[in-house]
Amino acid sequence: MAESVIQLRHGSSIGQPLTRRDGPLKVTGAATYAADNNPPGLLHAVLAVSTIARGCVAALDLAAAKAHPGVVEVITPANRPALAMDPDEKAGPFSFRQELLQNDRVRYAGQPIAVVVAETLEAATEGARLLAPRYEAEAVQAGLDGADVFTPAAIGVGNAPNMQHGDAEAGLAAAEAGISATYDTPAQYHNAMEPHAVVAAWDGDRVTVDTPSQGLAFAVMRIAGIFGIPPENVHVRSPFLGGGFGSKGLISGPQLLGILAARMVGRPVKLVLSRPQMYGPVGHRAPTRQTFRMGTDSKGALTAIAHHVRTASSRYDDFFEPAVGVTHTLYAAPAIETTTDAVRLDTGTPTFMRAPGEASGSIALESAIDEMAEALGMDPLEFRLRNYAEVDPASGRPFSSKALRECYAQGAAAFGWEGRPLAPRSMRDENGLLVGWGMGTATFPALMFGAQARAVLRRDGSGVAETGAHDMGQGAWTALAQIAADSMGLDIDRIEFRAGDSKLPDAGIAGGSAHTATAGSALRSAGEDVVAKLAELAMADERSPLFGAGNAGVIARNGRLLRRDDEARSESYADILARAGLDEIEGKGRGAMDPAAQEHYSMHSHGAVFAEVKVDPELGQVRATRLVGAFAAGTVINPRLVRSQYYGGMIWGVSFALHEAAVMDPRSGRVMNANLAEYHIPVNADVPSVEAILVEEHDPHVNALGIKGVGEIGITGSAGAVANAVWHATGVRVRRFPIAIEALA
Ligand code: MOS
Repeated sequence: MAESVIQLRHGSSIGQPLTRRDGPLKVTGAATYAADNNPPGLLHAVLAVSTIARGCVAALDLAAAKAHPGVVEVITPANRPALAMDPDEKAGPFSFRQELLQNDRVRYAGQPIAVVVAETLEAATEGARLLAPRYEAEAVQAGLDGADVFTPAAIGVGNAPNMQHGDAEAGLAAAEAGISATYDTPAQYHNAMEPHAVVAAWDGDRVTVDTPSQGLAFAVMRIAGIFGIPPENVHVRSPFLGGGFGSKGLISGPQLLGILAARMVGRPVKLVLSRPQMYGPVGHRAPTRQTFRMGTDSKGALTAIAHHVRTASSRYDDFFEPAVGVTHTLYAAPAIETTTDAVRLDTGTPTFMRAPGEASGSIALESAIDEMAEALGMDPLEFRLRNYAEVDPASGRPFSSKALRECYAQGAAAFGWEGRPLAPRSMRDENGLLVGWGMGTATFPALMFGAQARAVLRRDGSGVAETGAHDMGQGAWTALAQIAADSMGLDIDRIEFRAGDSKLPDAGIAGGSAHTATAGSALRSAGEDVVAKLAELAMADERSPLFGAGNAGVIARNGRLLRRDDEARSESYADILARAGLDEIEGKGRGAMDPAAQEHYSMHSHGAVFAEVKVDPELGQVRATRLVGAFAAGTVINPRLVRSQYYGGMIWGVSFALHEAAVMDPRSGRVMNANLAEYHIPVNADVPSVEAILVEEHDPHVNALGIKGVGEIGITGSAGAVANAVWHATGVRVRRFPIAIEALA
């Protein structure tokens, strides 16, 4: 029978604010993270990493390291076994060059230069210290100034570096009012709660790898390629992650070195990065310098936006922060022009970091929009509404859905924006602190990748749903189980949900805020498939009350199929399977982007963020005191988890505006605060009140579930809102982020 006559009982578990299914395991310590695995015979590996940023390793004291009690092996370029693949070979846009001890060259500070394997972590650590490397150092390029500038072939993953819609120069020349401003965003480094870790155990040419992964299938292919074994010989387990944020999308060099060490010594090996070792080999967000030029007519309608981004990649590989994307889509202007150029630095290669491109682009764009409103003497919300994009401004395509007006309205009302004085430095609190209110628009593309899933209904009335999905902490286990249960017509407690293992159907990558949409679509289609098969069994059997339900169809609900034209006539899944003599029945499904929808519509999540800051007028100390964000991102599978994603993003926005930066020593090319202890991020005291409003939105085009993604949008808008609030509090426009006390003094 056709799937279209099956009506699923929506609203069963979808939309419920369930707590995380893995929460009790995590808070009781029962959840096994990668580094919690201790297979018998385990050895410990510790990386020795370079303290120079460019040059080569001239000498290592191998004898001293090897002589240390407990040290089993010291792996360097001199004795590293051959790999099946050159780690410097590029294999598509999702392939990064890696330092797997291929030679004695040093490309950045923090690069692995040796691996010491020992019976204990302490012995391996001491062995690595005893290597006492000597270097031949070369001069480094560590900042955006003073390097050769070039135009990259592509930015992000395969996007054009330049985009032109209309004639921006003509639009600027014809403008009645205008601004030109340059903003600097810093390098930011990944500091997930769980550093990259790996436990690898070989059995002949088969390997089992416990490691956090946002992309199991990618990890399997990379491991198979590097070690020259068939992909089916690689088993990656990643049930729990202490955060990913993009850094665990592709398996990193250090993780591969742990697997290599295990193969070389013939015993299981554990390798866990120390906090400082996160600053180099696992990627970072590149710095940007962005210039905006905007013009408007006398009524405040934009005539042109020109956005130029300078960013940086490493000297040896390509990843260019796609910071121009937000400018293509957010505000209506007859002319929009964006350009990106870049320099090469002696750092590790930048990578994806939560809202890669949109985060840095958004803080600059939203600051520039605020400056433009200021130049016009207009309220920043009124200015945004005046330039509201009814269709995608650059492509002219309609939006698949866009409830941004509602976001502005609901966010402004909840925040109390209406009482905001236009002039800066005009509000104080009872303690004499300067108070400022700012806002920003949030946006992130609604993406879809490819995924597969399997759904099984069992004779005991229970079900199994499987997909190799990744729960980085965002609640994927829970939200995806809700979708699976709903599509299988079962209560969520009746299904066993399996994820986080490369032996399961490929769930694609947990990135681009697309995981729930993508893996969820696969689960939904697998659930529909298995219910359809069950219905066929029943409707063809004259002993079933569903016999002949035919075109009237059936409804799947609470483990029963019901005739749609007469719900009193129904039968349980268990009875249908029992009579058919089956223990279980299986369905399969896929989730994928719909190319036709992609072609016809511009698909984005949207939001509006309102921020209050208080600034000490004498010290310049800034605190974000209140944040209200209203977001529209299509279907909300689980409002508790969605809110939590928004909170996390908004707090990262505060971090971007006020706290976070890798401070580079231009002489040495070393990050001077390369440790979570010295790398500033907001703690609870820095963010007293955060509110996220879920604005209702139905998107019939983006995917069958109507999900647009919530993982990354929270940073966008928020960072700019905080920056604009600082201006409103102080009257000082700071264009270098994070905003430092000395910039306000
Ligand atoms: Mo994200 S930066 O797509 O994990």
